Amino acid sequence: MASTDKLAAKYLSLFLKSMNHVSLKKFTYHIRIKGRKRHRVQKLLFGTINYLLTIDTALRTASKKANVNLSNLSTMELNLLRILTYRILFNNYELSQIRTKTNNSKLINKIISHINFPTGDTDIDRLALRYSFPRWMIKNLINRIDNNTLELLLDSLNKRPTKWIAININRISPDEAIESLNKEGFNAEQDEEFKDIAIKISKFSKPLTKTNLYKKGLAIPVSKASIGVVKALKITSGEIILDACAAPGVKTILMNFYLNDSGKIYAIDISPNRLKRMRTLLKLFNINNVILTNADARKIKLEKSFDKVLIDAPCTSSGMIGLSPDIKWRLKPEMINYFSGVQLSIVENIIQQLVNMENKVQIVYSTCSIFPQENEDLVKRILNAYEDVVSIDGKSLYGIGLADYYGKFGKRFYPFIHHTIGLFLTSIIV
Ligand SMILES: C[S@@+](CC[C@H](N)C(=O)[O-])C[C@H]1O[C@@H](n2cnc3c(N)ncnc32)[C@H](O)[C@@H]1O
Repeated sequence: MASTDKLAAKYLSLFLKSMNHVSLKKFTYHIRIKGRKRHRVQKLLFGTINYLLTIDTALRTASKKANVNLSNLSTMELNLLRILTYRILFNNYELSQIRTKTNNSKLINKIISHINFPTGDTDIDRLALRYSFPRWMIKNLINRIDNNTLELLLDSLNKRPTKWIAININRISPDEAIESLNKEGFNAEQDEEFKDIAIKISKFSKPLTKTNLYKKGLAIPVSKASIGVVKALKITSGEIILDACAAPGVKTILMNFYLNDSGKIYAIDISPNRLKRMRTLLKLFNINNVILTNADARKIKLEKSFDKVLIDAPCTSSGMIGLSPDIKWRLKPEMINYFSGVQLSIVENIIQQLVNMENKVQIVYSTCSIFPQENEDLVKRILNAYEDVVSIDGKSLYGIGLADYYGKFGKRFYPFIHHTIGLFLTSIIV
C-alpha cells in the first residue's frame, strides 16, 4: 500500500505542475504503471484531485494543531500528505495502516494524527467543504436551485458517470451489439429510455475504443445525454443539417446513424486540431455525407437554409466534472461570462440569418454546463430579443431528460437522476 501512496504522490506532483495545460483524463493515459497498481494509483489521483479543497483545508488545520510548518516539507512530501489525507477522509484509512518512509516521516505522521473533516461557518462554506467545490461555484448556484437539488448535484458530480455506447442502428441490432460486448467480457444491457440506440455498460474488460464494435465502426462510446441532444432533433432521412460546433464529431456520427447515410451534414468548427480528430473518426465510421468546414460560427454566413441546426456550444464543461474533476479547479468565474458571450454570438448569428429564410428551422442548443448563465438565462435572453420570430419547441423535447432549473426554457440531464454528465438542451423554432 505504502508504495502505491508514494507513486500516487509522484503522479499528483507531476499533474499539479501541468494542470493548466492538460486534463486529468488525458494525463492518466501517460501513467507508466501496469495492471492493478495502475488502477489503484489512478483512483487515488482522481479522488485526491476531486477533494482537493477539503483535503488542503484539513491539512492546514492539522498542521497548525501539530505545530508543523507545511512549507518545510518537499513538494513530494506535501502531495503524499494529500494522498494520505484523502484516504483518511474518504477511504476509511486507519492511521495504523500508514507507514511513511521519507526524511520527514515523523512530521508527516504528526500532522496526519490531527486530520479531521473540516466544516464551514456559512452555508456556502459548509457545502464547499463537504463536497469540495470552489466557493464561487456554490455561490453561483445556491440561489438558483433549491438546496436539496444543489446537494444532490454536487454529490453526483463527485462520482464517475455511467458509460454508454451508441450503435449504428442501420448496421447492427441492440441484441447483436450486446452479445458482442458480453462475449468480450463487458456487462452490457439495452438502455431503458433510448432502446433503439443506447447500450449501457456496467462492467469493463478493456477500453470501449478497443472493442470489435468500435474498431468496425459499428458503435461509438457516448454519454447518454449526447444521445438525448440528437434525439431532440427528430431527424428523418434525407434532411440537410447544420452542425455549428461539431468537433470531434460524436453527435455528427449519431446524426448520421439517424440519417442512414442520406441527406447532408454541414459540420463547422473553429479548431483545426479538433477537426483533424473528427476527420479520422468519420473515416473509421465510413461516413461520407458530412462536409467539414473550419470556421467561426459567430461570423459564418449561411448561403442557404437547413432543415435542422445543432448548436452544441463551447462551454465551461462543468457538467463533466465527474469525468475530469480537475475542471473544478481550472475553471474561473469569469469563464462563465466568456462562454456565455461566445454562446450568445453563435446563436444570434445563426438566428439572424435563419429568420430571413423561407422555411421554419428547428435549432437544438446544448451545453454540458451546470450554470444557468450558459443555459436557461441565455435562452431567456434569446426569447426576449427575438420574441416575434423565435419560440420554444417543447414537443421535440418531450421524453428527453427532465425540466430545467426553472421548468420553462428546456430540459436537463441531471447526473444524480440520469447517471450521465450534467447537460442542458433546448429546441427552438425560427
Ligand atoms: C462541446 S464541443 C462540441 C462537441 C461535438 N458536438 C461532439 O458531439 O463531439 C464545442 C466545440 O465548439 C468549438 N467552437 C468553439 N468556439 C467556436 C466558434 N466560435 N465557432 C465554431 N466552433 C466553435 C470547439 O472547438 C469545440 O469543438
